[in-house]
Amino acid sequence: MENFKHLPEPFRIRVIEPVKRTTREYREEAILKSGMNPFLLDSKDVFIDLLTDSGTGAVTQDMQAAMLRGDEAYSGSRSYYALANAVKEIFGYEYTIPTHQGRGAEQIYIPVLIAKREREKGLDRRKMVVFSNYFFDTTQGHSQINGATVRNVYIKEAFDTSVKYPFKGNFDLEKLEQGIQEVGANNVPYIVCTITCNSAGGQPVSIANLKAMYEIARKYDIPVIMDSARFAENAYFIQQREAAYQDWTIEQITYESYRYADCLAMSAKKDAMVPMGGILAFKDQSMEEVYHECRTLCVAQEGFPTYGGLEGGAMERLAIGLRDGMRQEWLAYRIAQIEYLVAGLERIGVACQQPGGHAAFVDAGKLLPHIPPEQFPAQALSCELYKVAGIRAVEIGSFLLGRDPKTGQQLPCPAELLRLTIPRATYTQTHMDFIIEAFQKVKENAANIKGLTFTYEPKVLRHFTARLKEVES
Ligand code: F0G
Repeated sequence: MENFKHLPEPFRIRVIEPVKRTTREYREEAILKSGMNPFLLDSKDVFIDLLTDSGTGAVTQDMQAAMLRGDEAYSGSRSYYALANAVKEIFGYEYTIPTHQGRGAEQIYIPVLIAKREREKGLDRRKMVVFSNYFFDTTQGHSQINGATVRNVYIKEAFDTSVKYPFKGNFDLEKLEQGIQEVGANNVPYIVCTITCNSAGGQPVSIANLKAMYEIARKYDIPVIMDSARFAENAYFIQQREAAYQDWTIEQITYESYRYADCLAMSAKKDAMVPMGGILAFKDQSMEEVYHECRTLCVAQEGFPTYGGLEGGAMERLAIGLRDGMRQEWLAYRIAQIEYLVAGLERIGVACQQPGGHAAFVDAGKLLPHIPPEQFPAQALSCELYKVAGIRAVEIGSFLLGRDPKTGQQLPCPAELLRLTIPRATYTQTHMDFIIEAFQKVKENAANIKGLTFTYEPKVLRHFTARLKEVES
C-alpha cells in the first residue's frame, strides 16, 4: 500500500453507537440551559464529542477478550501480575500500583513525596516549589492541596501558535536549573515531566531534553515523575522528529524514555486505551521506600495494592491496552488524522497550534480578537460551535486557568485555545471534514459572537460547573 496519498482507517469498526441529530433551535436551547458551559450538556445532545480523548475511544478486540480472564481475588490476583509484568517489560519499572485513574495515582504519590521532604529535611511545605514542563490541572491541584507552589518551565515557543518547533513540550532547562537554585534544591520535592505536554497542545518532549532534565534532577537529588498519559504519542513524535531515533521502534523509544525518570504516574484512559484505569510505578530500589509508603496510602484511598481501585478484568484489559496503544500503524493514522484536521482548519484561515498528539488546538484569541481574555473567547467559540454543528469542544484558556488564590485576580493565560480532542479510532475522516465545514460557518459569523460573563462562579475548579451568559454589547 505504498505510494497512496491517504492512509484510511487501519482497522475495521464492528461495534457502533448511535448518535442523535438535532436542530439549531434545539441546540440553542440546550446550550442556554447548560449555562453556556458545554461540560453541562447531556451527551445525548452532542453529535460529535471532542471534549476529551480520556476513556472515550474505541477498545480493541484483544482488550475486550482479556476482560474475561479477570481474576477477582481481593489480594494477590493473577491479573495484577499480568499488569505488573507488562509495566516491567514496557517501561522497565520494578514496582507497580494500579489506581482507578490518573488522579488516583497523583493523590498517592504527591502527599508521600512532599511529606518525605518535610520529614527528612525538616522543611516547611509552604516554601516548597515543584517544577514541570507544564502541570496538568489535577497534578497542579494535588500539589497545591498539599501545600506546594507550582512552577511551569516551558520553552518560549510552546504557546506561540505562529511558530513551528519539533518539541514544543520541552523543558526550558535553564529556567529549571535557575529555579531550583533560587528556591534551594531541598525545597523541591519532585519534578513532573508531562508527555506529551497536554496544556501546550499535545506537544512532545525529545529524548535529548528528557536526558538533560534528568541530569539536572540527579545533580540536585530530586525525583522525577513521568506524567505518562500520552507516552506512546510522545514516542511516535520522537521517532518522526529526533534523528537519532528514526530507526527505533515505539517500544524501544518508550523504554529509553523511561530511563530518565524515577516514577511513572499514568492516566491509562488515553494511550493505554482503557475507559477507566491508572498506574503508579517506580523504577528501582532507590524508590523502594516511597513505593512502600504509596502502597499504604493506596490501601486507604484506592483499594488493596494488588487491585488499587480496578477489577481484575480491568487490569487484564489494561495490560493489553498498553501494548495495543503502541502499534506503529495506529499511531501513524492517529497523528495523520490530527494533521489533516489542523491543515483543513488552517486552509480556511482558522489559526491553530501546530498539530499535536491528541487534539487540534484552535487559537480562539486570533479568531475572535474582539473578545478580551476576561470574557473567555475560547469558551464563546465552543458555544458557537455547538450551536452551529452539535460539536462539543473544550476551552483551554483563561476560563480553565482561573484566579490567583491570593489576590482573586484572573491569572494571565499564555493563549486562549479551544481543544478539539479526538477520541481514539472513534471518528472518521468524514467527521473531520464536517468539523472543518462547521468552522467555516463559525468564521463567517465570527464578528457577531459575544463574550461571556459569570452568572455562577465556583471558587475552585470552576471550569466544570460554572454558569455564564453573553455580555450585552
Ligand atoms: N495527566 C495528564 C497529562 C492528563 O492529561 C490527565 C487527564 C491526567 C493527568 C489525569 O488523569 O483524568 O485519568 O484522572 N486528562 C484528561 C484530558 C482529563 O481531558 O486531557 P485522569
